[in-house]
Amino acid sequence: MRKILMLLAILMLSVTSLSACAPAEPETSTVKVGIAIYKFDDTFMTNYRTEMEAYFATLSTDAMMYEVSITDGKNDQATQTEQIDSFIAQGYNLLIVNLVDLTAASTIIEKVKAAGIPTVFINRQPSTEDMALWDKITYVGAKAEDSGTYQGEIAVDLWKNDAALDKNADGVMQYIMLMGQEIHQDAALRTEYSIKKVVAEGIEVEVLFQERGNWDRVLGQEKTAAALAQFGDEIEMVFANNDDMALGAIEALKAAGKVIPVIGVDATAPALDAIAAGDLAGTVLNDSVGQAHTSVDKAVALLNGETLEKEYWVPYVKVTPENYKDFQ
Ligand code: BGC
Ligand code: CA
Repeated sequence: MRKILMLLAILMLSVTSLSACAPAEPETSTVKVGIAIYKFDDTFMTNYRTEMEAYFATLSTDAMMYEVSITDGKNDQATQTEQIDSFIAQGYNLLIVNLVDLTAASTIIEKVKAAGIPTVFINRQPSTEDMALWDKITYVGAKAEDSGTYQGEIAVDLWKNDAALDKNADGVMQYIMLMGQEIHQDAALRTEYSIKKVVAEGIEVEVLFQERGNWDRVLGQEKTAAALAQFGDEIEMVFANNDDMALGAIEALKAAGKVIPVIGVDATAPALDAIAAGDLAGTVLNDSVGQAHTSVDKAVALLNGETLEKEYWVPYVKVTPENYKDFQ
């Protein structure tokens, strides 16, 4: 018996010493993150997704690896829904979703809820009703009303400082509006609030042309060319819901030999260059870096079991020839 006990004691000792000697191998846990973008061919969302990927890389450590996979929804909800189904089937731990079609939000939320995968929605805001479907979802965006108001302020400043902008001297600002995709809250709100601000400053307005360029540069150029063909010198101001359409408008104006102020939103690199060149009158910073960091931080917080608000807002900033260099 004593022998057995002795043996046991020796065995136990060696086991403990063995484990004590074993090198402290840090265990790496991998978090699989799926990011679904509405389409890759979008300047603003390209900046946004590139920044999310880079930021996840900075958060990765030896102990905790973020493995990020990003899909291109190709502007088609059926395609994006399949991509999300595939993330779920592959056991992804976390999702960040830039919906193609906001009316699909409830379907997607039911899916991630059933699978128990915390999800951050970005850029396209699901309804309050849809957001109430589960507590492990949140939205990160920017208040589109503010971007519209800043565009209005830029237009008002230009108008009040240059009487020649009122080409027909009727005291009314004749303008054209290039709108983003119908499904997107930013399109309607920027269209509304930009003009609201101009009117609030006591300037009368008349809309000559208001059509959708769907956030797209080529469409922005084509729509502006069409507006110019119809209204020519009657146009006194060009509002675009984003910079890509504004840059398209500038191309059309140049081709027609016209100089009319154009105002965009986003403050993308080419838009800032256009301000430097004197082609773009102003824009509004839609902070892709700030929004990317916030959405990643919130995704990680959800994964850590934190209770979050239903929405988080990253501020817009007005950008004009006076301050554009701060954003380059
Ligand atoms: C941006 C647009 C972009 C759109 C994509 C908007 O907030 O201003 O440039 O095309 O989001 O959903
Ligand atoms: Ca006028």
